Amino acid sequence: MLDGAEVAKHNTRESCWVIVNGHAYDVTDFLDKHPGGATVILKYGGKDATEEYNAIHAEGTIEKYLPKEKHLGVVDPATIAVNPKPKAQQVKSSDPIPLSMCLCLDDFEAAAERVINRRAWTYFHSAADGLSALRNNQQDWAKVLLRPRILRNVKRVDMRRVMLGQKSRLPFFIAPAARAKLAHEDGELCLARGAARAGIPYCTSTVSTVSHDELAACLQAEKVYKDEGCLFFQLYAANDRRVTIDRIETARRLGYKALVITVDSAVVGKREEDERYRAELDYLNGNEVDPAAYVKVADDEPPVLRAFHSPTLTWDDLKWIRELWGNSGPVALKGIQTVEDALLAAEAGVDAIYLSNHGGRQCDDAPSSIRTLVEIRRFAPELLQKVEIYLDGWVRRGADVIKALCLGARGVALGRPFIPERGDRDDHAIDRRHEPRPAEPKLCRHYDSREGHSSAAAVCRG
Ligand code: FNR
Ligand code: LAC
Repeated sequence: MLDGAEVAKHNTRESCWVIVNGHAYDVTDFLDKHPGGATVILKYGGKDATEEYNAIHAEGTIEKYLPKEKHLGVVDPATIAVNPKPKAQQVKSSDPIPLSMCLCLDDFEAAAERVINRRAWTYFHSAADGLSALRNNQQDWAKVLLRPRILRNVKRVDMRRVMLGQKSRLPFFIAPAARAKLAHEDGELCLARGAARAGIPYCTSTVSTVSHDELAACLQAEKVYKDEGCLFFQLYAANDRRVTIDRIETARRLGYKALVITVDSAVVGKREEDERYRAELDYLNGNEVDPAAYVKVADDEPPVLRAFHSPTLTWDDLKWIRELWGNSGPVALKGIQTVEDALLAAEAGVDAIYLSNHGGRQCDDAPSSIRTLVEIRRFAPELLQKVEIYLDGWVRRGADVIKALCLGARGVALGRPFIPERGDRDDHAIDRRHEPRPAEPKLCRHYDSREGHSSAAAVCRG
């Protein structure tokens, strides 16, 4: 009889033995042939796999499929170690969720919420007014159904696209999202590195917390693929035209590949979660603001906090912006929310339109961009041939990407899911750890009927 201690030594990819129903088997050569994958067997390398094996295999499977010479013989039952029981039945609701448990973007969000500091979370999470635009983004994907076709050879699937003139290994890019340093000391550098390594574009925000020079240098330094992985420049027109000119010149000088002009933010949205949080801090610190201070602006001007961008930008301004940008690459308008504006954008000669309601952060009751895309298909299908169409807004599943592409988008973008997080909570002034939590880890927070899209998780993982 074999000794359990001897079997236990064979617990690697190079030599993997398992015990099943008292017999030892050498499954080293079988690892990569196992329909359930090698990892699950390796977990039991050198151990007693009986319980797991019997639960999912018909009797005699291993004897039938494993060559006779790999059947090593009976193991002395007294020497077989008992597998330890798991430390707990569930991860505690106060513990960080390990990344290995994150299978889809909703899981990452739940994990981030556990570790990210409250100030950053509030800024990234917030949306405009009554959150209805955000809800539209979350819910509308489920209203578009897939029509799965069958019996096609799908062994190899090529997900590469050319977006805004640049090759990308995947049909999505990183949407511009400001102030990444709130959550991670490297801020937007994390995103430039990610884009370079994955071979996808990153559209940097005008209000990046890392300089555009540094981002351009980082992308070059980290580039893995010669032709894939690049930067687009998101432009906010400032109140002062000289500032806008300077931004465009910077983007040109640094060789950014496309200019993406955001046109949905004449006034910054009223994000109540943000404002409530600031008010709470002021209250706790005894710095309550006199409400009268909020109204000390002329009647026809936006409140100071929301007057960050130029409220006077119109279709006419596109001319000089385009001229200044010259032949440096395609120009896209980000924040188109109706077929009428999509038509005007095409008429103005832009190369691409980027459907977006700014992650629901600007205008309550704005439509989701997937709805706007359907609207364009219905009322101006010719646009699909004339300009490249991109969209963002709660793209969280591979299936969402597929739906957008099937309806005519060239590619999609994701904002919040790419926000980097440090996961080191201790030096944050405000920490959500001790706030009441749900009793169990809240993974896969689906909205409405969005459950069960697991086959699309592959794209998320990619
Ligand atoms: C944004 N967005 C944005 N857009 C833009 O043109 N310039 C910017 O600086 C920012 N900043 C920004 C910050 C944060 C925290 C968020 C969440 C969003 C909008 C962004 O580009 C994109 O349109 C949305 O984030 C897409 O929605 P999802 O993917 O976040 O649901
Ligand atoms: C935001 C701005 C910066 O959405 O676009 O916070």
